[in-house]
Amino acid sequence: MNVRYTRRLLLVAAAGAFALPALAQAPIIIKFSHVVAPDTPKGQGALKFKELAEARTNGRVKVEVYPNSQLYKDKEELEALQLGSVQMLAPSLAKFGPLGVKEYEVFDLPYIFKDTAAFRAVTDGPVGAELFHKLEAKGIKGLAYWDNGFHIMSANKPLHHVADFKGLKMRIQSSKVLDAQMRALGAIPQVMAFSELYQGLQSGVVDGTEGVPSNFYTQKIYEVQKHMTLSYHGHLAYAVIVNKKFWDGLPADIRTTLEGAMKDATTYANDKAAADNADALAKIKASGKTTVYTPTAAEVEEWRKALMPVHHEMESRVGKATIDAVYKATGFVAPK
Ligand code: LMR
Repeated sequence: MNVRYTRRLLLVAAAGAFALPALAQAPIIIKFSHVVAPDTPKGQGALKFKELAEARTNGRVKVEVYPNSQLYKDKEELEALQLGSVQMLAPSLAKFGPLGVKEYEVFDLPYIFKDTAAFRAVTDGPVGAELFHKLEAKGIKGLAYWDNGFHIMSANKPLHHVADFKGLKMRIQSSKVLDAQMRALGAIPQVMAFSELYQGLQSGVVDGTEGVPSNFYTQKIYEVQKHMTLSYHGHLAYAVIVNKKFWDGLPADIRTTLEGAMKDATTYANDKAAADNADALAKIKASGKTTVYTPTAAEVEEWRKALMPVHHEMESRVGKATIDAVYKATGFVAPK
């Protein structure tokens, strides 16, 4: 080997030695977009996933969290995920209909979950798995379900009786079950992106809404709604989803580590949900800007009576088999 050749080899090796760390430093980026404030159960869950994912992969993965619809609004974010412009989302289960998976709207049926344990029995069982399976044909993979408690109702007038809803324009998420629910109360449902809710209520484009206390507090809904009723008639939860091609293309060891990080972030987010919502409700009450009303047993009964027919009515939309599977998992007995 002549000297010049040896020197060239050494130079190539040296360049390689510099190039290697540079290669190792180029992290895999996961853009995680969502529509709520960072200081909510979902916002905190996303940040916990970032923390765990980055630490456990020693920086080989970087998670960029974009809260508050900074990148995309409700409908756009699902399109962006399918196109691969973002890699991870956690939309509410009430927003999957436009993707063509109407079965997700089963989660919106009024009073279908008597408590969080009943919801978990569904998502942890065959229905949860089957619904994730349905996403794969859409280029999406489901990783986890995150809970966020039960909906309350708000408006600028007291909502005690079903008749109080008559003619009110109520903002809903895109679910057809929520549409039917508001109609059953005599209200006029209006789909609106979450990012437009405060403005919509303030300007009177809509009169009222349903939502969870953590969102009502962080979006300052209590500033533009004089009355809230603790009806807990519906449930809010999310599916953490990823672009399937991106996820399947990850190195196997990274994917396994990220699955572990997601599992722990899920426990964290779910543990936070109840406490965060209780805390938000206390802060809303303390603001003195809105009245928070607890319905009487008779009023709860009146709402139930008006809303239960929605289960039967929505069989054609959601599928009777899916509804029955949820009943079975929760022990729910539909009133005759
Ligand atoms: C809503 O649009 O009301 C909720 O889905 C927002 C959220 O993600 O909690």
